[in-house]
Amino acid sequence: MTAFMQVAGLDHRFGGLHALRDCSFTIEQGRITCLVGPNGAGKTTIFNVITGFLVPDEGSVAFRDRKLDGLRPQAIVRAGIARTFQNLRLFADLNALDNVMIGIAGQFGEEPVGAIFRPLHTSRAQRRRRQEALATLDHVGLADRAHDVVRNLSYGEQKLLTVARVLATGAELLLLDEPASGLSAGALDAVMALLRRLQSEGKTLLVVEHNTRVVQQIADDVLFLHQGHLMAQGTPERIIGDPALAEIYFGGAL
Ligand SMILES: Nc1ncnc2c1ncn2[C@@H]1O[C@H](COP(=O)(O)OP(=O)(O)OP(=O)(O)O)[C@@H](O)[C@H]1O
Ligand SMILES: [Mg+2]
Repeated sequence: MTAFMQVAGLDHRFGGLHALRDCSFTIEQGRITCLVGPNGAGKTTIFNVITGFLVPDEGSVAFRDRKLDGLRPQAIVRAGIARTFQNLRLFADLNALDNVMIGIAGQFGEEPVGAIFRPLHTSRAQRRRRQEALATLDHVGLADRAHDVVRNLSYGEQKLLTVARVLATGAELLLLDEPASGLSAGALDAVMALLRRLQSEGKTLLVVEHNTRVVQQIADDVLFLHQGHLMAQGTPERIIGDPALAEIYFGGAL
């Protein structure tokens, strides 16, 4: 059986910094896999490689038996993989709905302005996209915030909005870079519930996460990255309970 996604032998240097070292792993369909590891371990760099934002020195990524190497980010979205960014990358002065519309257009390589420009005769396709964007906002619990400007949303709502943006692409595999970081307890629960719901609806998730409570509650599999190398892969119990990994992560107990 071939893997849903297979990452093989990724290696990358930023000048003198060896960010990824022979990094290999597989992702199974329908599961939530958490990618953990200390700051600077290379987690975001792996996302950048998978989604075509960075061409690695060596290695390859295959998704549904198709090699993604050399594809542009938009082509990778069309292949079924979409990602969020650690620093959100939302348009603070636009409303939530327009952010989803622009997100869709941007990921597909279209002009962002065209996505929200509304001439008198809005095309049928554009109206449909708007309806889809509204439905997606509703799906993540932001229906009543659709017309609010992003800077007026709470940080938790902004995080949910980034998830709405990847959902709106229709991608099957969602790469979420720290969707739970910096959230209050209530917002954290909302994000965890959303991720589980997406899984139950058939999405496959690869999630960068530092919070071990979140990892324990949502992960089916955990990948432990250290200095660009995949040190361990296993259940949350096994990875979080491993004293050697805890030492690397925190210099102490996880
Ligand atoms: N574009 C870049 N140019 C130079 N160095 C980079 C670049 N991107 C990442 N790095 C370096 O590569 C290493 C891995 O960075 P990366 O952002 O992937 O880590 P991370 O595991 O996501 O960390 P964090 O938990 O802090 O988000 C770090 O040392 C980082 O400084
Ligand atoms: Mg990162």
